[in-house]
Formats: sequence, structure tokens, C-alpha cells
Amino acid sequence: MKALMSVRGLTRRFGGLAALEDVNLEVPDGGVHAIIGPNGAGKTTMLNVLTGVYAPSEGKISFGEADLTGQPSHVFARHGIGRTFQTPQIFFNMSALENVMVGLHRHESQALVPAMLRLPRMAASERDSLEAAVGHMRAVGLGAYLGADSSTLPYGALKRLEVARALASRPRLLLLDEPAAGLNPSEAMELAELIREIAGGGITVVLVEHNMRLVMSISETIFVLDQGRRLAAGTPSQVRDDPLVIKAYLGAEDDDDA
Ligand SMILES: Nc1ncnc2c1ncn2[C@@H]1O[C@H](COP(=O)(O)OP(=O)(O)OP(=O)(O)O)[C@@H](O)[C@H]1O
Ligand SMILES: [Mg+2]
Repeated sequence: MKALMSVRGLTRRFGGLAALEDVNLEVPDGGVHAIIGPNGAGKTTMLNVLTGVYAPSEGKISFGEADLTGQPSHVFARHGIGRTFQTPQIFFNMSALENVMVGLHRHESQALVPAMLRLPRMAASERDSLEAAVGHMRAVGLGAYLGADSSTLPYGALKRLEVARALASRPRLLLLDEPAAGLNPSEAMELAELIREIAGGGITVVLVEHNMRLVMSISETIFVLDQGRRLAAGTPSQVRDDPLVIKAYLGAEDDDDA
């Protein structure tokens, strides 16, 4: 198996607390791969480290041939690593479409992007950007919101809007932090279909999620974190049958917020 992304000996401390401790993780190239674990296990910290938001305290991060250890997040983005957030990060002063257009410029330093969208020199390429953004909104099922103010979108649509923005940056690897949280069961199943389509299009997906039905139905591999450490890893059936996982996690939390 060829890894797209790999981390070795990853530790991330916050003061005295090790949110991640000596974790080795390999994300295969292609498919959907889940990271699960109880609340506070370190899942979001892992995504933050895998996107350059936090530097590791120790350990190494490789993406393909590149060593990204210690690089800032826009360098991770430039290498083709996109993400969504546990709490959607939407610019509510911008339209839904403009939020997606931000993703088209994800490779630049993010602080500049809202200003850049309004600069006259962007005008020539604005039409192309607009068309691309419309395409990404349709791809995630938001065709009905093309003219909408982002502040008018229901919660489920905001989560899809973030996916559209991440897709606009044309990632090779897409990291999703609890995309199904707050969705009802039928919305969650529609989301599963969207994630399958994204992976089918050649983008490797890493999914952090508490909804076990979703995780089990679409993941090729599952990595289980518990208190910052790797508890188990394998195929859905290997993980489901692992006594450590059952004891520490599934037994207590199965379907807790599905
Ligand atoms: N910026 C930070 N500063 C201090 N502590 C942090 C920070 N980010 C995370 N932590 C701590 O690290 C631990 C892991 O948090 P993290 O958010 O990664 O967990 P999680 O697995 O995503 O949990 P959840 O399922 O609730 O989202 C927690 O104890 C949390 O309080
Ligand atoms: Mg989290």
C-alpha cells in the first residue's frame, strides 16, 4: 500500500496535556478513511496538525514525497490538502457563492482572500471563478442556493457549503471534521453518497465522525484514537470486532448522535 499522507511519532502538547502522543498514521492513496474516538480523543487536533494549523510538538508529517513538518497551513493547502471544520467556518458577510470562491484562492495566504475577491485586477478571471464556484455548489447539491446569502442557509447546507469550498481548492486529500453532526438520518445518508462521489472522483477522504452507521458504511479503513493514542486500526469489521474498541468506545457511544 502506498501512503498518500503519513505521520510518524506524532505528539502534540497543549501545556502539560498531550492531545496526541506518539501516533503513527498512514492515509492510503484513494478511498474513504475514518478517524474515530470518544470526545476529547484528539481527532480535531489530528486534523489541525494534518493541515498545518498546529505544528507537531514531535514527529514528522509526509505528504507524498514532501516533508511538511512545521510548514504553515497555506503550504499544506498548496500541496492539495483541503478540509472542513467541526463548526462550519463561513464568512457570513459574503454570499454562498463567494464563500466557495474563497476556496478557489485557497493556495494564497488566507487572510488576503476576502480582500482579493474585491480587487479590480480580479475582474478578468471573475467570470471563470464564478462558473467554477457554481459547478462546485451544484456538485454538493446546493444548486438551489446559488443566489443566496450565506446567512440564510440551513445548517446542513452550511456544512455542504464548506465541502464545496474545500473542493474548489482542488484537493488531493480532503479532511472532514464531523460532517454529519447535526444532520438527521436521511441527510446523513445523502452525505454518505456525496462523500462516496468525491472519493470516486479520485480525492482521498479522511472522515472524523461520531456517526458509526455512516463511518461503517463508507470507510475502507478506520483509525481509532483514544486519549491521544492509537487504540486500533483496520477495516470496519476488524475495528468493530476489536475488544479494546468495544470496551473503550463503541460499547459506550454507539449511535450517540447519529
Ligand atoms: N488549542 C488548544 N488548547 C488547549 N487544549 C486543546 C486545544 N485543542 C485541543 N485541546 C485539548 O486536546 C484534547 C483533544 O481535543 P480534540 O478537540 O482534538 O478532541 P476531539 O477528539 O476532536 O473531540 P470531539 O469529539 O469532542 O470533537 C482535549 O483535551 C482538548 O481540550
Ligand atoms: Mg473534534
